[in-house]
Amino acid sequence: MSEIIGLPDAPEMGAAALPAGTYDGQVVFVTGAGTGLGKAIAQEFARLGAKIVIASRKPEHLEAGKEAIEALGAEVLTVSCDIREPEQIAAAFDVATEGFGLPDVLVNNAAANFPVPAEDMSPNAWRTVVDITLNGTFFCAREFARRHFLAGTPGSIINVGASYAWTGGPGFAHSAAAKAGVKNMVETLAVEWGPYGIQVNGLVPGLFPHEDMTADIQGNLKRTNDKDVVQPAMRVGRPRELGWAATFLASPYARFISGHTLVVDGANWQRRSLTNPPVVTVRDQMGKGPFEG
Ligand code: HXC
Ligand code: NAP
Repeated sequence: MSEIIGLPDAPEMGAAALPAGTYDGQVVFVTGAGTGLGKAIAQEFARLGAKIVIASRKPEHLEAGKEAIEALGAEVLTVSCDIREPEQIAAAFDVATEGFGLPDVLVNNAAANFPVPAEDMSPNAWRTVVDITLNGTFFCAREFARRHFLAGTPGSIINVGASYAWTGGPGFAHSAAAKAGVKNMVETLAVEWGPYGIQVNGLVPGLFPHEDMTADIQGNLKRTNDKDVVQPAMRVGRPRELGWAATFLASPYARFISGHTLVVDGANWQRRSLTNPPVVTVRDQMGKGPFEG
């Protein structure tokens, strides 16, 4: 008899697969690291010795990220930055470089998202999500790479994606399209910038619930079933697991991995067949009435 046991749970918080001090003397710049997965990623780099730079818009998020990193005894700088604005990104890199030196690693984690049926989406709603998620990611990568080109130093970029880059994302047309662009960008930039020592990879989380999720995203999740049993792993991801994957991808042990997108989702996105559960429209899922223009 085969028992349903799911994939084993993650090791406890604080465990590490990489040698202690792997990131000693290194500077890691993480966008959106005041909340959720960005914070979890920054914490794992910090545990391994990195100095952390957190860039995002909201002072309360910057403060929360700072506290989380300082609690680990690591050095941290926070800088206010809207990644839609290239000048603000340049200024943030100036602050990082003056404080700690040119960042060795860039984690493009910041993104924007909310559920909305495509026919209800305003042009500005589409533009906003694409601008933050796709354009912002490129602007940060560009700034990082240009500075390394001029300095003649190597660096590593990780772009955080989403699996609906491959499948499409009903209810999330803007974010899914933007994340498809982010994944594609990884492949282009890795080839263009490899000769100059810049490694570029993607990192895709599956379902990683956390307390900082926006009300929109939490509300969307609440409308669906229990989270564990709908995953082949029989469990959701633990944010630290994404952090471990990120610290591996940018480490000396992964230098020959570039242009790759690593999916950390317990095989959830491959779970589809010709006889999926009955179709429920996005409007019905969201409790919206008929489209009235
Ligand atoms: C429909 C919406 C909306 C909503 C905003 N808009 N929220 N439309 N439904 N729930 C529309 C607004 O009406 C406006 O269009 C346009 O979007 C811009 O809204 P603003 O509030 O002016 O934008 P801004 O202040 O720049 O804020 C950006 C934001 C906000 C994306 C709207 O939610 C934000 O700051 N999010 C950051 C955090 C985040 O999104 N995290 C999620 C990452 S999770 P009009 O036409 O009225 O001007 C993720 C994957 C999760 O990506 C996977 C799921 C499991
Ligand atoms: P989150 O907690 O909402 O984090 C998003 C972060 O992005 C926030 O800290 C926010 O900070 C920052 N941000 C948003 N717009 C910005 C802007 N214009 N400029 C600078 N920073 C901005 O979401 P999360 O769940 O941790 O998601 C992190 C990443 O994982 C995202 O790329 C997301 O798409 C991806 N992802 C998450 C899941 C999941 O299950 N959680 C699943 C798939 C993919 P400010 O508000 O302070 O600017």
